[in-house]
Amino acid sequence: MTVARHGANRTSRIAGFHRKSPRERLDLVAAFAGLDAATVDHLADMGNLSPQLADKMIENVVGTLNVPVGVATNMKVDGEDVLVPMATEESSVVAAVCNAARQNHDTGFTTSVSGTLMIAQVQAVGIADPHAARLRLLEKRDEIRAICDGCDPLLVKLGGGFRDLEVRILDTRGGPMVITHLIVDTRDAMGANAVNTMAEKIAPHVANWTGGRVFLRILSNLADRRLARARAVWTLDAIGGADVRDGIIGAYHFAAADPYRAATHNKGIMNGISAVVLATGNDTRAVEAGAHAYAARDGRYGSLTHYEIDSDGDLVGSIELPLAVGLIGGATRIHPTAQACLKILGVTTAERLARIIAAVGLAQNFSALKALATVGIQSGHMALHAQNIAIMAGAIGDEVDAVARVLVERKAVRIDVAQEVLESIRR
Ligand code: MEV
Repeated sequence: MTVARHGANRTSRIAGFHRKSPRERLDLVAAFAGLDAATVDHLADMGNLSPQLADKMIENVVGTLNVPVGVATNMKVDGEDVLVPMATEESSVVAAVCNAARQNHDTGFTTSVSGTLMIAQVQAVGIADPHAARLRLLEKRDEIRAICDGCDPLLVKLGGGFRDLEVRILDTRGGPMVITHLIVDTRDAMGANAVNTMAEKIAPHVANWTGGRVFLRILSNLADRRLARARAVWTLDAIGGADVRDGIIGAYHFAAADPYRAATHNKGIMNGISAVVLATGNDTRAVEAGAHAYAARDGRYGSLTHYEIDSDGDLVGSIELPLAVGLIGGATRIHPTAQACLKILGVTTAERLARIIAAVGLAQNFSALKALATVGIQSGHMALHAQNIAIMAGAIGDEVDAVARVLVERKAVRIDVAQEVLESIRR
């Protein structure tokens, strides 16, 4: 095997790289990057995802990246207690959900969904009569339904399939475009493959019926026909009084009024949401794109959650966002850890999964706002972060907790302090 050498003459043009085994590729990469034996051994250990499976999931695999899976406790969703697996590298994300859910466990979260409808878009351009073309397409609804449903008889058998057709005329810099939306119930699948196949199949017909040219044929991640909703009440007793409640509401008003704050507010929500989406092998980027686009649906980016005071004076929180997640297809079906996480959740439908995820997003946001409006997040965050810093300083085993404790006590969660503490422990 020819190995690209570390140094001046190395090249990233490696013929047939994709045809090699993960180990062969790793050796080539190691030679290119000058990796030491310990780093190579580390990458070669693929943990609980077999090299054979990893190699089938993406191209040019050389290793895997293990992210911790934590389980959020205390969650009650629609009257049922659930344990929620969360895959995240960020400390305090799991603890935040546990805390929020502990403070409303009596009543828990009430959830709903708008459905499991996905949208695929077909872009047609260069049409002389876009308004008439729009009507010509709408007249073909039954034909379009038959073509779409013909793409996926199994989906139709499971109660899904084509549901509706929308045709929009978009005024663009390049002139009018006729955009066809195929609205498809994808049931327990996230649905990207199903709707993309339909869009590609329908495209030549759209070109024919409109007299234009068709270019893009792809789903929209603004899955606003697949909204998940959750609401919850936190009593004044549970959260520590009216000041805390009003602080949380003030934080929400801030996010609702200011995109700079809303981005951070929603990032916190996605801390929880993406962690469950990842743990279940779903597409974090699809969900994130949909969430942020939905947050900007009124023309200005705002909060995905709302907070208000109910007639008893308690705090009511609610969330609504697109959640295109599935139980079948993609990594969800083939990744053994995703399958294990679904077993922990005990979900049997994509709808139930989306509902739980929405509740987690609300819980996450409640905890962040409560901390921010009271003691700040750094005390809780730093307690956990201190452990990372201790590890970075070289602490192992029991040393990690011992060093972290001193860092928190001294209110100096810094690597230089951690090194100094570690040295004094070892002396
Ligand atoms: C940190 O990952 C998330 C927060 O910044 C969220 C927020 O500010 O609402 C704490």
